Amino acid sequence: MKFSFFLLAIFLSFQIVISHAQPRGIHISWNGTGKKATATAMAVTWLNDNTDNGVVKYGTRAENLDQTVAAVEAFSSGVKTYVSKATIQNLKPATYYFYKAGSDKNGWSAVYKFKTAPAEGDKSKIFIGLWSDTQNNGGNLNFEQTDTIVKQLSKNTYNFTIHTGDIVENGSVAKSWNGYFNTGQLVNANTPLMSVPGNHDVVNDTTSKIFQRPFPIFFELMNLPGNQLNYSYNYGNAHFIAINSGYAQGAEKVGKVLFAENSEEYKWLETDLKNARQDKNINWIIMYSHYPLFAFGVSHIQTWQNHIQPLVDKYKVDLYIAGHRHVYERHKAIKGAQIFEQADMHVYNKPQGTVYVNNGSSGGSLQGAGGWDMPDMLFTPRQKIYTYSEMTIEGNTIEYKVFDKQGTPVDYFKLIKD
Ligand SMILES: [Fe+2]
Repeated sequence: MKFSFFLLAIFLSFQIVISHAQPRGIHISWNGTGKKATATAMAVTWLNDNTDNGVVKYGTRAENLDQTVAAVEAFSSGVKTYVSKATIQNLKPATYYFYKAGSDKNGWSAVYKFKTAPAEGDKSKIFIGLWSDTQNNGGNLNFEQTDTIVKQLSKNTYNFTIHTGDIVENGSVAKSWNGYFNTGQLVNANTPLMSVPGNHDVVNDTTSKIFQRPFPIFFELMNLPGNQLNYSYNYGNAHFIAINSGYAQGAEKVGKVLFAENSEEYKWLETDLKNARQDKNINWIIMYSHYPLFAFGVSHIQTWQNHIQPLVDKYKVDLYIAGHRHVYERHKAIKGAQIFEQADMHVYNKPQGTVYVNNGSSGGSLQGAGGWDMPDMLFTPRQKIYTYSEMTIEGNTIEYKVFDKQGTPVDYFKLIKD
C-alpha cells in the first residue's frame, strides 16, 4: 500500500514537472513596423518555468515543421519566470502556417496555426475579434467570465483580435498576467493579439516617473510593434492605429493627459494619420485606445477627447474603438460638435463623421447600462451583460456584430463608405 502511494507520488510529481515545463501562455502578435509587417512575419511569445533556449518550429503543413527560428529568452522579474520571444520572418502573404514552440529539453507546445495578412492593399475580407477589460476583479477573479468569452472567440477563425485594454486588474501582479495568458492561450496562440494597455495595466501614481506607462511586466510579456504603446499596422486595405490612453482620468486632475498638442506622441499620431490618408492602398483607418472619446458618465474624459478628436476629425478616421466602461456602447457618427442622425439605426451610410464604439465588458465587473438620454448614444444594452464583438471589413463596408457571453446577438451595425 505504502509502495503504491510512493509510486503515485512519483507519478504525480512527474506530471507536475512535465506540465510546468512545457511552454505556456503562448500568444502571437505582429511586432514589426512598416508596410509588410503583418503579411510576412509573426512573433511568438511564451512563458517557461526553466531556462529553455527554445525555438519555434514552423512550416506550411502541420506534419512537416521543417523550419526553425531561435527565441530570445529573458527572465521576467515581474512574473518570475522565463519569457521566450521569437519572430518568424520572410513568410508568404495570405498563407496558413503551423508551429510549435519549446525545446527537446523542456517539452513542446501543441501545434498551433496562424495565417499571415494578405499583400498590401489587397481587398480580401478581414475578420477581427474584439474584446476588452478582461481584468480579474469582481466575478472574474480567476478569469472565469473571460474564459467563457475566450471559448466563444475560439469558435471562429479571426485574422487577429483587438484587445482595448485593462487586460488585468493590477498590471504589477504576476498571478494576474499568468491567469490572463493561460486563459487566453486558446485564442492567442492561433490569433495575433493586438492590444493596448488600460488604466489597470499602467502606473497610476501621478508622481511616478513612469506615470501612465505600463508596469514593466507588460513590456516583458507583450511583443507589439515599435514602443508597444503607440503603434500602427496595415492589414490588407485597412490601417490600424493603437494608442496608449494611460490613466486619463487621474491625469486630467494633474494636467498630464497624454497626446497634448505638440507632444511627442501627438506628432507621431499626426504623421501616422497623414501617411495613412495619403496611402492609395488604404481605404479604412481604424483607431483604438482604452479610454473612449465619447462615453457615458465618468468614463468620458473631456481633455482626452479634446486632445484626440481634432486629429480623428482632420484625417477622417472611420471607426474609433475603446473600452474602459464595462458595457457596450455605440454612438452616432460625430465630427466636431456635430452629431449626425441616421435613417436606420443599424446603418451608417457614408457618414460625415467618425463612428465610436466602446466594447468594455469581456470579464471585469459589469457596470450599469446608462446613457440612453445622451444625444449621441445610438445603442447600449439595457441590462448588464458580458460581451465580445466581431468585425468584418470587406470592400466599402464594415459589418460589426456584438454578442453576449453565450453567443447571443446583442447589436449589429454596418458602416458603408464611398
Ligand atoms: Fe479602464
